[in-house]
Amino acid sequence: PYPVYENLRKNNPIYKVMFPSGEFGWIITRYEDAVEILKDSRLSKDVAKRYGAENQSIFVNNMLFSDPPDHRRLRGLVQKAFTPKWIAGMRDHIQTIADNLLDQLESKDQMNLIDDFAFPLPIIVISEILGVPLEDQDKFRMWSNTIIDATSSEHAEMFEQHAQEFIEYLNAWFDKVRKEPGNDLISQLVVAEEAGEKLTENELLGVVALLIIAGHETTVNLIGNGILALLEHPSQRDLLIEQPELIHQAIEEMLRYNGPVEFSTSRWALEEIQFRDQFISQGELVIVALDSANRDEQQFPDADVFDITREKSPHLAFGKGIHLCLGAPLARLEGEIAVMTLLRRFPNMQLQADVHQLEWRPGMIVRGVKEIPLQL
Ligand code: HEM
Repeated sequence: PYPVYENLRKNNPIYKVMFPSGEFGWIITRYEDAVEILKDSRLSKDVAKRYGAENQSIFVNNMLFSDPPDHRRLRGLVQKAFTPKWIAGMRDHIQTIADNLLDQLESKDQMNLIDDFAFPLPIIVISEILGVPLEDQDKFRMWSNTIIDATSSEHAEMFEQHAQEFIEYLNAWFDKVRKEPGNDLISQLVVAEEAGEKLTENELLGVVALLIIAGHETTVNLIGNGILALLEHPSQRDLLIEQPELIHQAIEEMLRYNGPVEFSTSRWALEEIQFRDQFISQGELVIVALDSANRDEQQFPDADVFDITREKSPHLAFGKGIHLCLGAPLARLEGEIAVMTLLRRFPNMQLQADVHQLEWRPGMIVRGVKEIPLQL
C-alpha cells in the first residue's frame, strides 16, 4: 500500500471516500494531521451514540469504542494489569514460553513462523492473564480472525455465526468464574460486575472480547512483519545479532516500518469540523492510516528505509491520545523476547518463499502475512 499512501500524502492528504456501507468518511495520511486527529475530542469513538445501541454488535461495549467518562472507567478497570512495571515482572515467564515453543522445533529444519511461534506466544500470555483455557485457543483464533477480517466480504457472512459462538462461549465461562473466581483478570472483572457499580454485563463481555481479540491479532504481526523486515535486510539482522542491545530501537523500527495495525478504528465528527482546508460534516467518519503516517518523510527522514539504529521514533503504531494502546508494554516485551530468542536459536534462518508471493491478511485493520515459511 505504501506507494498509494505516498501519493495521498502528496496530493490528497485529507481524502474523502465512500465506504462500502455507503457512508462518507475521510482518510488521513500525513503524520502531523494524524496526531491532531487522534487527539481531537470533537471526534467521537462511541459507535452506540452514532448508530443507536440496539444496532450495535456487543463487541463495542469497551474502552476502544467509548468516550470519556465511560472510557476512563472501563480502561481504569484493567489498566493495572498492563502497566510497564507489572508487565516487566512477566519477562522471565514469557522467555520460558518462547524457549518451550522453540524447543519443539529444535529437531526440525523448517517452520511456519506464524503458526509455530508468532501466534502461540502472545496467545499463551494473554490466556494466562485472563485465565481462559489454553485448549480453546484454536476457537479463539477462528472467532477473532473472523471478527477482525469482517471488513472483507470473504468473511462477512461468517461473522454472525462466529460472533454468536464467541458470545455464548464467554457467557458460559463468566458463569463458571462467578461460581469459582480465581486470581486472573476475568475474575476481577466479574467481581466488579457483580458488585454492580463499575461495569455492566454487556461491558464485561465487550472488554474481555476486546482483550482476547487484541491479544490475538496484533503482536503476532509485530513478530511476523518484524522478522520479515530483518530477513529482507540482512545487514540489519547481522547488526542486531552483533549488538543485541539495539533490540529496543529495532522493535520501534519494526512497528514504524510495517505496523501491525494499518488503520485506526474509526472516529466520527460530533460537530462540523474545519480541518486544514476541508470541512468534515457532523456525523462523518475519520480514519487515520497509521502505516502511512509512519512513513511520512516530513517526520521520518528516509522513511522508506528500515534502520534499526533510528533514534527517537515517535511512530503511531500504537495510536495516540486517550486511546493509546493499553497493551503496548506487553506487546513490546513479547516482541523483544520473540525476536531475540529466534535470532539466538536460529541465527541462519532463511525465508523459504519469494517475499512477493507471501499472502497478506484481508481486511483493513490488521496488516500481517498469513504464513511465513522459514528454513531453519
Ligand atoms: C488500542 C495497536 C497490542 C489492547 C490500540 C490502538 C492501536 C493499537 C493503534 C488504538 C486504536 C485507535 O485509536 O483507534 C496495537 C499494536 C499492538 C497491540 C500495534 C501490537 C504490536 C495489544 C495487546 C493488547 C492490546 C497485546 C492487550 C492484550 C488494546 C486495548 C486498546 C488498544 C485495550 C484500547 C485502548 C483504549 O481505547 O483506551 N492498540 N495494539 N493491544 N489496544 Fe492495542
